[in-house]
Amino acid sequence: MEGSPSDYPMTTTPPSKSINKLLWITDIHLDRASEETKSRFLDKLAGISYDGLLITGDISVAEHLTTHLAEISWACKERNVYFTLGNHCYFGSSFSEVDRRVADLCRQRSNLVPLGHGEVIQLTQNTSLIGHRGWYDGQAGAGEGTRIECPDRQWIKDFQGLTKAGFFSKLRDLGRESAHYFRQVLPKALDGSKNVIIATHVPPFTQGLGHRGSFCDWNRQPFFSNREAGNVIYGISKQFARRKITVHAGHTHCPVDARLLPNLDIRVGGAQPGFPAFQEFLTIE
Ligand SMILES: [Fe+2]
Ligand SMILES: [Fe+2]
Repeated sequence: MEGSPSDYPMTTTPPSKSINKLLWITDIHLDRASEETKSRFLDKLAGISYDGLLITGDISVAEHLTTHLAEISWACKERNVYFTLGNHCYFGSSFSEVDRRVADLCRQRSNLVPLGHGEVIQLTQNTSLIGHRGWYDGQAGAGEGTRIECPDRQWIKDFQGLTKAGFFSKLRDLGRESAHYFRQVLPKALDGSKNVIIATHVPPFTQGLGHRGSFCDWNRQPFFSNREAGNVIYGISKQFARRKITVHAGHTHCPVDARLLPNLDIRVGGAQPGFPAFQEFLTIE
């Protein structure tokens, strides 16, 4: 489990060099790519021009996660890799075990920057980046009444053996944990920057939900959205009407761009497992 902000001193990282061109990728699921496809993707990552990489989760499964993260780190050379994990990153293991292994790797690879520990990363003078993995909180759409079974219940040890009610209670806690995080860290970022990019895995707003090209089904929504975090981000955005907030997320694999307030946008990346791809080069003001 990622730490809450109270577990970590909040830090603002001044840029040693401005990050004007940030490459955003999401849901690359490298465990599902062939060796050849993965190598081509990493070669491309190494060979093109950008200042930093942003990953919004679902990098791999637990067994291969640190290997794949290390490969990304090498491909990016001296450029920083800002990342959150996604639910698939825990498949085959537990929250604590995966987070421990990733923290160990990040201590060895200085360009790996895990988001979710209180940091506000100043990309340029005007724009900062914050992030937290987040989680779907089970509240959207049909909620606990959903007819769809969530595979994570089978694949992540922390969920195994829970009743349906126990599972949904745990989801609520995970959503609250990320909401608490954004309540603490987002105002701090907005105090210091005109623009804030929020990176998270699960879309915090149902307006950002799609599934296979159409709007996300009512029964799927509980596992596709983090309403707890969304309510906090929305409320803070209203308080900081002169600041601009853009949420970048993944998880649904269905691209959506939506404006929720004049100063709040959500962008969800598309993905096709087995075929890791770039989302976009973000020009940072
Ligand atoms: Fe994914
Ligand atoms: Fe996901």
